[in-house]
Amino acid sequence: MKIIVVGGGGREHAIIKKLKENPEIEKIFALPGNGGIAADAECVPIGATDIDGIVKFAYENGIDYAVVAPDDPLVLGCVDALEAQGIPCFGPRSEAAIIEGSKVFSKNLMKKYGIPTAAYEVFDDADRALEYIKTAPIPTVIKADGLALGKGVIIAMTREEAEEAVISIMKDKKFGKSGNSIVIEEFLEGPEVSVLSFTDGKTVVPMISSMDHKRAGDNDTGLNTGGMGTVAPNPYYTDKVAAECMEKIFIPTINAMNAEGRTFKGCLYFGLMITKDGPKVIEYNCRFGDPETQVVLPLLKSDLFTIMKATTDGTLADTPVEFYDKSAACVIMASEGYPVAYEKGYEITIPSDIADKVFVAGAIEKDGRLLTSGGRVLGVTAIADTLEEAVADSYAMVGQISFGNAFYRHDIGKRALMAKVED
Ligand code: AMP
Ligand code: GLY
Repeated sequence: MKIIVVGGGGREHAIIKKLKENPEIEKIFALPGNGGIAADAECVPIGATDIDGIVKFAYENGIDYAVVAPDDPLVLGCVDALEAQGIPCFGPRSEAAIIEGSKVFSKNLMKKYGIPTAAYEVFDDADRALEYIKTAPIPTVIKADGLALGKGVIIAMTREEAEEAVISIMKDKKFGKSGNSIVIEEFLEGPEVSVLSFTDGKTVVPMISSMDHKRAGDNDTGLNTGGMGTVAPNPYYTDKVAAECMEKIFIPTINAMNAEGRTFKGCLYFGLMITKDGPKVIEYNCRFGDPETQVVLPLLKSDLFTIMKATTDGTLADTPVEFYDKSAACVIMASEGYPVAYEKGYEITIPSDIADKVFVAGAIEKDGRLLTSGGRVLGVTAIADTLEEAVADSYAMVGQISFGNAFYRHDIGKRALMAKVED
């Protein structure tokens, strides 16, 4: 069995390490992968959005199965193009990936099918949006319609900030065409929970819940990032909340996508906020989250490839999906200055006895050395019986790793450890 994994970050490294546990898989190619992934897969210099290049490579190399991990190729139709060449895939087709690709689509879907989410208005005209903001409740949340590298959401604490956000997205086109339309929505409060799920379009199986830490600085200060660390499970995701999510959010979403003729297969990510009125959807992603995957997959007891194939074949209902009854913590080591500007090219030193606990996100290999090449550089994951131990073990490993301009948050897991939750 020969497999390609499209993408080249920490998430893809976690997917590849897990896939390698299946003895039927002889060879994994990462397109493009990175300097750290090279230890676990053969990296091929084809970019994740080079759909023609990906399909040509898969076809010419007799690839049996493809895992398309990032949002952009999914939205661009990478799965559609691979399937057209007879290559089965893990991931949604473009028509279903729109659930992440267009916030206007996903908000309208939730409204139409009664799935709980923040109240909202859609605007494709900047002046009308500015007029609306004059009387909108503050704080308010402004979201560019399309993909914006995770930066298209602005929480405006004042009316002026809201106006600036509308002008930068719609008039100055900060995110290009992604800002042709915007959603302005109600500001919600409550703990956030990430739930990644496997689905074959009929059955939806939630994975172990997790908690991301999106802000760059300790105690949730600083700019929003792709994620500075994760823990799993998330203490706010109680059995009661889980049951409510299944009934009011997960199953209705799968049914809604079917009713729209956009059956979703692959990993559907529910970004949830547990408000005083119950769980609500903050966002959908059409893929595994990063760094959520770096805590969720190491806790997966069942074989990942078997589950992925079941989502493709429509046999998920008959496929066991089990997780270890343990906790995991992942601390992201980033380059100082991320998510804005940062230097690259510093050598990374990782002791060999902990290398298998490190997922590499932004590094290249040069003359046998690993050099930093991205904002998020490494994810360091520990698993233990308790979350407290997992957090301590992860930080102990972080202390043994070094590279120039490294920075990380010191409070990953703190909120989860202090959570007071009534079931
Ligand atoms: P996203 O880029 O969609 O993941 O959103 C980034 C972050 O913005 C989320 O993780 C939330 O913390 C926050 N956010 C998004 N929508 C809302 C909302 N309606 N109310 C409060 N916070 C929000
Ligand atoms: N960590 C958030 C995401 O993957 O979108």
